[in-house]
Amino acid sequence: MCGIVGYIGEKEKRDFLLGGLKELEYRGYDSAGIAVLKEGEISSFKATGKLSNLVSKTEDFSSEGFGIGIGHTRWATHGKPTEANAHPHWGQFSYVIHNGIIENYKEIKEQFLPHIPFLSQTDTEVIVHLFEYFVNESTSGFEAFEKTVAHLHGAYAILLITQKEPDVIFFAKNAVPLILGRNNTGEIFFGSSDAPLIGFAKEVSYLEDGQYGFAKANVVSLFENKIAQNLHYKPLTHDKLFAQKDGYRYFMEKEIYEQSSVVTETLMGRIKGNEVVLDELAGMDVTGFNAIKICACGTSYHAGLAASYLFERLSKVRCSVEIASEFRYKEPLLDPKTLFIVISQSGETADTLEALKMAQKSGMPTLAICNVDNSSIVRTADATLLTRAGIEKGVASTKAFATQMMTLWLLSLYVGHHRNAIGTEKMNEEMKALLHIPLVLKVDEAIHEKLHRLSKRYLHGHGFFFIGRDIFFPLALEGALKLKEISYLHAEGYPAGEMKHGPIALADSELFTIALMPRTLLYDKIKSNVQELSARDSTLLVISPEPFELSDDFIQTHAHTHPMAEFFEMMVITQLLALEISIRLGNDVDMPRNLAKSVTVE
Ligand code: M6R
Repeated sequence: MCGIVGYIGEKEKRDFLLGGLKELEYRGYDSAGIAVLKEGEISSFKATGKLSNLVSKTEDFSSEGFGIGIGHTRWATHGKPTEANAHPHWGQFSYVIHNGIIENYKEIKEQFLPHIPFLSQTDTEVIVHLFEYFVNESTSGFEAFEKTVAHLHGAYAILLITQKEPDVIFFAKNAVPLILGRNNTGEIFFGSSDAPLIGFAKEVSYLEDGQYGFAKANVVSLFENKIAQNLHYKPLTHDKLFAQKDGYRYFMEKEIYEQSSVVTETLMGRIKGNEVVLDELAGMDVTGFNAIKICACGTSYHAGLAASYLFERLSKVRCSVEIASEFRYKEPLLDPKTLFIVISQSGETADTLEALKMAQKSGMPTLAICNVDNSSIVRTADATLLTRAGIEKGVASTKAFATQMMTLWLLSLYVGHHRNAIGTEKMNEEMKALLHIPLVLKVDEAIHEKLHRLSKRYLHGHGFFFIGRDIFFPLALEGALKLKEISYLHAEGYPAGEMKHGPIALADSELFTIALMPRTLLYDKIKSNVQELSARDSTLLVISPEPFELSDDFIQTHAHTHPMAEFFEMMVITQLLALEISIRLGNDVDMPRNLAKSVTVE
């Protein structure tokens, strides 16, 4: 989830590039950089941390007069957020910026670039060296670029400039956004979203996956599979915030819709054939521990709780889960033979960080599942798996949870495989299911519309129970937390089988029960739990692939054959339900009262 911008024209390029990056800072900001090519000379600047550091660094740099420029704000996926890893990356005469992940970067290095000294740990740097490699055997920069793109596997939005053709920007797009803009003075603009182009470009073209080409002042040539394509332009909106939200009403809504693409990023480079490959764990002996303890807060705690089912079922390792604020003061007995996993979107949650330090002091091996590289938790843990959700702006976590779940599922398979706990057939089944999840996460517009209509029934009453069994119990907890956070209505998540041990006393028609009823796990059991609630007149919203005659409202899900596919589909539905109820109540969905995105105090 990096942000990229590009410009061809007479303007002060520094100002356009830095201004554009400011608009994209919401996509990631652990480092940033620009490169400007004017009269054959390249000037490049990079800085770690917030964009303001790059702004200070370039204060004395001016670039008026015709030229071209590219800029990048980074959200680390490969390599630490250092200056060396910041974009642009360069070769001998060319500079590149990239958003996405080049999955086969190691293979490219080995095959084409074994003698090139690499300056960074990124996947991106191969692009510029591969381009220069092909320049030597091509008749034009474009031919070399086309050959380069043909060798890349993965997701990319790329802008590349070269001193060999100093008035051209080469571009390519696959699976991540890239927008090209123009106006009637001959200027050309690029951006990861509309926002940086507003006020500059008159119309924009949203490039399609697999498209690439080159741009000069007034001229853009677009190709796909070596065949020339027409560019289709649309007028550009004037509303920047609207553009940052990609047209969605709230960031939370946008982030729910983004889940399909961000989990694709979570998976990238981590599955080879039928094996989970986690390079980040190369130094960790996953066969050497007897148990796993997970510690986290809020939504991350729910991901941990859900993962405990996976670790016991798939990895065959005992797994316990603790709320970090409780763990710290209970004088826990810590065993150096237990792997301690912390989960945190922000990497800065004080309770989770302190719990991690306690575990480390006691000699436990530690692993962070985190979305922010170089955060305090990542710097403290022995090893980290980045979840790759990109920046999450909505205070209520959605895509962070989805990517945490995918990372933990991958980890449980990785551990299971290394401990010989999973047979080949089971592994094949899991892989098939894993790879299907990006599709499962595509929001079904009809279901969203139905939830929008249904939401008006669920604005009052004396409370909500989200109920589920097995791994759907943590999902019920998460569904209830989402609703609480943004609607300010009382909601609880409960194990369905536990309702009769107390909470059923609350049941009447003003109690709303949201029942998660997957067909692949304990369907008959939960069915009887729900029947008991219906007999006490609770208003029932059933989410299930199986029609349920007693439900007041029913959302039909797909008839998946794997519980995790049902899990992810129901996750999206509970997120959308909370969103729609909150919108109807007129609340500030993205910044709910009393909450902060990062809880750095106890
Ligand atoms: O950054 P973390 O994942 O460590 O944050 C933990 C919780 O504060 C966080 O999940 C919180 O519960 C969210 N608001 C949930 O939507």
